[in-house]
Amino acid sequence: MSLPKVFLTRRLPNAVMKRLDVESELLLPADLDAGATREELLDAVTKVDGLICLLSDRIDEEVFRAGSGLKVVSNYAVGYNNIDVALASKHGVVVTNTPDVLTACTADMAMSLLLATARRVVEGDELVRQGDWQGWGPMQLLGTEVTGATIGFVGFGRIAQATMRRAAAFDMRCLYWNRTRLSESDERSLNVTYVPLDQLLPQCDFVSVHVALCDETKHLINRERLQSMKPSAILINTARGAVVDEAALVEALQAGWIGGAGLDVYEQEPAIHPGLPALKQTVLAPHLGSATMQTRTKMGELAVENCLAVCRGQQPPNPVNA
Ligand code: DGY
Repeated sequence: MSLPKVFLTRRLPNAVMKRLDVESELLLPADLDAGATREELLDAVTKVDGLICLLSDRIDEEVFRAGSGLKVVSNYAVGYNNIDVALASKHGVVVTNTPDVLTACTADMAMSLLLATARRVVEGDELVRQGDWQGWGPMQLLGTEVTGATIGFVGFGRIAQATMRRAAAFDMRCLYWNRTRLSESDERSLNVTYVPLDQLLPQCDFVSVHVALCDETKHLINRERLQSMKPSAILINTARGAVVDEAALVEALQAGWIGGAGLDVYEQEPAIHPGLPALKQTVLAPHLGSATMQTRTKMGELAVENCLAVCRGQQPPNPVNA
């Protein structure tokens, strides 16, 4: 039996590359570390059964038109806003993603940003590194108390719930808003309270964003909503940048409508609004939510599993549109 032809757009951890080498006829971009150019992607999809791509690869009409033999687009991410899923379905292409395996890792990142922003860890690091530290000071770099504070989750899927369990360990009061509300018994067992979004925001010391990006959630956290938050509140975003209006966020931070922001994601990655790094009350990470070797390897294994299953005519573990 011939091996399925697969195009991988960028290098993944070794264990994943080895499996693809054995179980597929693997096509790769010329510079595996820089990733496929648009031209390489459009050329490769004319020759393969399966595509394994990243959140930075735009999979649109042009790709589906070129890839008339394409059976599957396996995204190496849980989010799939980089893929036109409706169009994929129209072209009979299965789209898959990598949920679950990155939940804990991303929740750890949300908590890291929350703690680092609240406790001014980056400002402190800079002070020490630059040799400007004059010794312990009673009023030096005072931050925001985390223990006992109120946190609100905007979106309450797997990653939000994992972040909530971490927040609960800090004795935080946990509120959530989600498109669909949990059952009363689930709310009781998780010890969370549902609050409509516009009532949730003004009550929270921390707001952590976890909704998927789609037309309905683009700029969900807009100027008015930022204005409604506490002046001391800290916004955490590990979901997708465009859920927050980035220009409005800069305005909110500059004007003191909110107290700080810990961000892992941005509207136009890798570009960021120049106002963000200019502000001391921001902690800015370069989209590291799932960035541990263990998690990235598990994501790769799942992406390969999804891709090969469809190529072999089997049901993939994580279909998005099938
Ligand atoms: C995802 O999977 O959607 C993250 O943003 C990257 O791991």
